[in-house]
Amino acid sequence: MTGRPKILVTQKVPDPAYPLLEEIGEVDANMQEGSIWPYEELLRRGPNHDYIYSLLTDNIDARFLEACAASTPRLKMVANMAVGYNNIDIDAATRLGIVVSNTPGVLSDTTADLAFALLMATARRIPEAERYLRAGKFNGWGPLLFCGAEVHHATLGLIGAGRIGKIVAKRASGFDMKVLYYDVYRLSPEDEATYQMTYMPMDDVLKQADFISVHTPYMPSTHHLIGERELGLMKPGAILINTARGPIVDEKALVKALQSGTIAGAGLDVFENEPAIEPELLTMENVVILPHIASASLQTRTLMATMASDNIVAHFHGQRPPNIVNPEVLG
Ligand code: DGY
Repeated sequence: MTGRPKILVTQKVPDPAYPLLEEIGEVDANMQEGSIWPYEELLRRGPNHDYIYSLLTDNIDARFLEACAASTPRLKMVANMAVGYNNIDIDAATRLGIVVSNTPGVLSDTTADLAFALLMATARRIPEAERYLRAGKFNGWGPLLFCGAEVHHATLGLIGAGRIGKIVAKRASGFDMKVLYYDVYRLSPEDEATYQMTYMPMDDVLKQADFISVHTPYMPSTHHLIGERELGLMKPGAILINTARGPIVDEKALVKALQSGTIAGAGLDVFENEPAIEPELLTMENVVILPHIASASLQTRTLMATMASDNIVAHFHGQRPPNIVNPEVLG
């Protein structure tokens, strides 16, 4: 590519991402921390850029991509600063010859840490107990005060055994947990042995586990993968953890399962209609809810941010971006 490309960065990201982009092009960036452009504004600002550096809160749909592909300069690539890319219409991007990249790997440990923290917090009722204490209700040690669920030696069921799922299994081994998993792709016997994970059909994982932790990507085939039927298969004492994507779990069915005692609790970092949350979840003591922070350490977010820039820089230099999601565009 000749000349300096025009690059749009849709949200304020960690600082080290910018100089990498500024070295190759003209950067037009939303620098207001915490500001997320509504769709219409994104649609207005997106066209006339060579590259768009996007976040998972940006709805990069076919209409948006078509507008950007019809403008001058024509959009060449969307670099998403996230491992998940369900906010982007990949089919439309591919059809229009627009490269899409993501940021896999660098956030796996941090995300697994948070999945395990949510599991611990929900099982041992940590936020609920802290609320009680801060409310001045703690009158002294009590034999039945905030008795929670055992984590050590319990059975963990992983739905999805990609990079993050495998690291969660490693965390679990330190707690002497038995780890079952289901994934559409079964791991190699070597990986099953290394991570001490036992493969089972999903229904069996759901029936046998004390904790279910979701680690699949979100796509049409995983929409409501955990719904009323699946929640009904879980043990009454079981706890559901979701740090993947909200719509993988049918949130209304989850509310009913929690209200009826079908399952015992949930630890959620993601929501079906994020940032909106089923109001009942906000009032349930057996639910721990977080604002989508699984990868939120400054080190990890900086790695994600520079990785997204590196993908753009590689494309600009005529190289294959290292984390391309739709490689068929480049042949
Ligand atoms: C991702 O990258 O997809 C996470 O949800 C945010 O880090």
